[in-house]
Amino acid sequence: MREAWIIDAVRSPRGRGKPGVGSLSNLHPQRCMAQVLNGLKDKTGIDPSLIEDVVLGCGTGSGDHAHDIARMSVLDAGWPISVTGVTLHRFCGSGQQAVNFAATGVMSGQQEAVIGGGVEFMSRYSPLHANGFHANNEHLMRLHPQVPQGISADLIATLEGFSREDVDRYAVESQTRAMKSIEDGRFRNALIPIYNDDGTLALDRDEHPRPGTTLENLKDLQPSFAKMAGFHAEGFDRPFNEMVQQVYPQAGKLNHVHHAGNSSGVVDGASAVLVVSPEFAKAHGLKPRAKIRQIATAGTEPLIMLTAPAPAAQRCLQKAGMTKADIDLWEINEAFAAVVLKFMKDMDVDHSTVNVDGGAIALGHPIGATGGMLIGTAVDQLERLDKQTALIAMCTGGGMGTATIIERV
Ligand SMILES: CC(C)(COP(=O)(O)OP(=O)(O)OC[C@H]1O[C@@H](n2cnc3c(N)ncnc32)[C@H](O)[C@@H]1OP(=O)(O)O)[C@@H](O)C(=O)NCCC(=O)NCCS
Repeated sequence: MREAWIIDAVRSPRGRGKPGVGSLSNLHPQRCMAQVLNGLKDKTGIDPSLIEDVVLGCGTGSGDHAHDIARMSVLDAGWPISVTGVTLHRFCGSGQQAVNFAATGVMSGQQEAVIGGGVEFMSRYSPLHANGFHANNEHLMRLHPQVPQGISADLIATLEGFSREDVDRYAVESQTRAMKSIEDGRFRNALIPIYNDDGTLALDRDEHPRPGTTLENLKDLQPSFAKMAGFHAEGFDRPFNEMVQQVYPQAGKLNHVHHAGNSSGVVDGASAVLVVSPEFAKAHGLKPRAKIRQIATAGTEPLIMLTAPAPAAQRCLQKAGMTKADIDLWEINEAFAAVVLKFMKDMDVDHSTVNVDGGAIALGHPIGATGGMLIGTAVDQLERLDKQTALIAMCTGGGMGTATIIERV
């Protein structure tokens, strides 16, 4: 099979995902995505007419994100009408899956130059959302009860014995690392400033991090998902915590440890990664920064939902003929603190090599956009730290994990 080369990866800043509060929230998500695509074009110098497809992840699919936001963003960017776009949904892993599919197209020899990435404006979620993961399908809900992800994260903490202090300590480290990375300008290489429709600057830096976060000031935050656990899913006679007890009777009473300070931030953002074949790169004078060595997915039990990053990483390593000792750096999406704590425990990897620039607890997790952002961050880290390999993994709704191994060229 051919290699798939990453020429470059860019992203918007992550704006706070609250209407009127977040600096990107006045923009349509398509407008932001279009600016990120043009940012990638300008940075790499690629002629957009050579791009065969733009594959974007988006975890919403309704309202402002409806239908095929990838094609609409290509048109919004002013790119030739010959450039197609396709939008896919793998919940939080959508953007990573989009880059992985871009790589698959190139590796298989079917495509030469594809953009993978994603977009999500959590400030503009539509009230037309279907009811939960089961999409109003009560039959599925009975077959596989599923609960909101924050409850799943609390379930992981309960089953694994992670205390409130464990998750808060992790969150403080995420904030500390992210602030250091921002102060050192480590994200500057990938950041595309985003402008409002009137030409004024909307945002040129991540606005979710909270400098000065300490264990002490997280102590007073109330658990976010305790009350929710007592709610009934629409059309159901049992509250979420009873569903949890049905599938995980061994958990006993849930220990609700997650709150606003140790859960991923709700933000707006967009990302784009240019993936091409070696032949294409050489023909067009493009210099690769990394190659995609292996991709994988894994499925686990859907109620606990967030436990598949380790199985996906294991499968990815195995298919690549590698072991964890071959990986220099890990980017594991900080959906919730317990997700990364469990990953490190399951894989027996040390925090010193995981999420070295902080993660979504500090920076935010713009669902469909995050995968492309993490892959770009990993490329920057490999160069900065002069390392060779990184493994990126994410948990997703429905109990799935996505994984990608990249290697510097
Ligand atoms: C946990 C969650 C419900 C909290 O939402 P929220 O209450 O709107 O969170 P906010 O960021 O507005 O924070 C609320 C308050 O907590 C406090 N707070 C948050 N982070 C803090 C920190 N690091 N230090 C101190 N206080 C903090 C602040 O008082 C803040 O209020 P302020 O913004 O007015 O200062 C939300 O972040 C969430 O759902 N995250 C997960 C998203 C998700 O599920 N993604 C998919 C993953 S699978």
